[in-house]
Amino acid sequence: MELPYVEPYKVKMVESIKRSTKKQREQWIKEADYNLFNLSSDKVFIDLLTDSGTGAMSDRQWSAMMSGDESYAGSKSFLQLKETVNKITGYTYFLPTHQGRAAENVLFSVLIKEGDLVPGNSHFDTTKGHIEFRKATAIDCTINEAFDTTILHPFKGNIDLDKLKNVFDSNPNDKIPFVILTITCNSSGGQPVSMANIKAVSKLCKSYNIPLIFDSARFAENAYFIKLREKAYQDRSIKEIAKEIFSYGDGMTMSAKKDGLVNMGGFIALKDEEIYKQATVYNIMYEGFITYGGMNGRDMAALAVGLDEATEFDYLESRIEQVAYLGRTLTEYNVPVLQPIGGHAVFIDANKFVPTIPRDEYRAQALAIELYIVGGIRGVEIGTVLEDRDPFTRKNRYPELELVRLAIPRRTYSLNHMKYLAAVLKNVFDSRNEAKTGYIIVDEAPIMRHFTVKFNKI
Ligand code: F0G
Repeated sequence: MELPYVEPYKVKMVESIKRSTKKQREQWIKEADYNLFNLSSDKVFIDLLTDSGTGAMSDRQWSAMMSGDESYAGSKSFLQLKETVNKITGYTYFLPTHQGRAAENVLFSVLIKEGDLVPGNSHFDTTKGHIEFRKATAIDCTINEAFDTTILHPFKGNIDLDKLKNVFDSNPNDKIPFVILTITCNSSGGQPVSMANIKAVSKLCKSYNIPLIFDSARFAENAYFIKLREKAYQDRSIKEIAKEIFSYGDGMTMSAKKDGLVNMGGFIALKDEEIYKQATVYNIMYEGFITYGGMNGRDMAALAVGLDEATEFDYLESRIEQVAYLGRTLTEYNVPVLQPIGGHAVFIDANKFVPTIPRDEYRAQALAIELYIVGGIRGVEIGTVLEDRDPFTRKNRYPELELVRLAIPRRTYSLNHMKYLAAVLKNVFDSRNEAKTGYIIVDEAPIMRHFTVKFNKI
């Protein structure tokens, strides 16, 4: 008999999660104005709001925390982290920050000026926010295949080179401070970028003398997909692949809350000394001195270990195959999910799941609420609510895709949790035709409404 796949770890500490009844959850979500962000975590059974900062640290990380050096300047933990980042990325210059968007804030303060254009592959919200905040424009050059949830392309995070070249050719060179490549691409469904594409983008950028920066939040997961899906890399280690990826760029921003395997943290790493020098000024102003940048010494110590663990094949296999297992099971149940399954999350296609609910009644939000009521699952709407209103007409903007993201925290839930999730989704899917109406908004903020918006059931 063939042996089943088994996770390469055992559990040393457990945290209870609370069961509740459907009746309780109906009451709680009503009290939360049908906004899942308003629920306290003890009212959630399986929390898939995000994979950011929600994972479990290892015994090695916890023991590293005990030896954290809290010196303001020249902390030993900073030096350990700097050495690890240097080993993994090959970049010489390093600045810690308190999380990923802080790294964006510091680096973009140096690089972006008003009127600039920053091409990339479906920029993450905070990345786009930090570009637009500086009165610059993010230009999406992702391949068209990424916008069809059914196409099985192995690297849906790829940049369309013609789109990118067109941006380069139709704008003055000094208006494009850099290209940002997000690996894996969260906004297109946790989809990877191929090494061939990274190489080609890098070559094109070099020929126009434009720097290439990686948004590296899930770089190790991207490296895993390259190993599995690009033949030339099947015998290379994850660390070798990661180092090769970074060799084609000029620098990176990192949210360590993902592939750093820690609950809080981030950093910038760079090849160029001049940009580093300018960034240190903003780092000191916004984050803290350059040897801690908003992180505790113990957190830097845990991150150094986390980066090492996250770039090990066995860990990545258990992590990504767990997400894939959930995706595969849902596919077997005919639940419409974005294909192929991404590295960190399963995205449910609400346009196909509940087409009976009108779009102006927020069908993806309605589905997310239903998953909570039926199974105590907290996912997140990535659709009309998130897309917000047009700033001028104040009309709702309707994105091409209406999704519910179920992001899986790292090393946190078991295979049985995945089975439970799949069963809840199947049950909701089987009764989907009963859903005819959704929700109306009764209160919302002028921007970024999704965090605080209040709904009423129609
Ligand atoms: N870049 C990407 C690709 C991200 O997914 C995130 C965060 C950030 C940057 C910002 O990092 O949160 O440390 O400031 N994504 C989280 C999510 C919030 O739920 O996907 P941060």
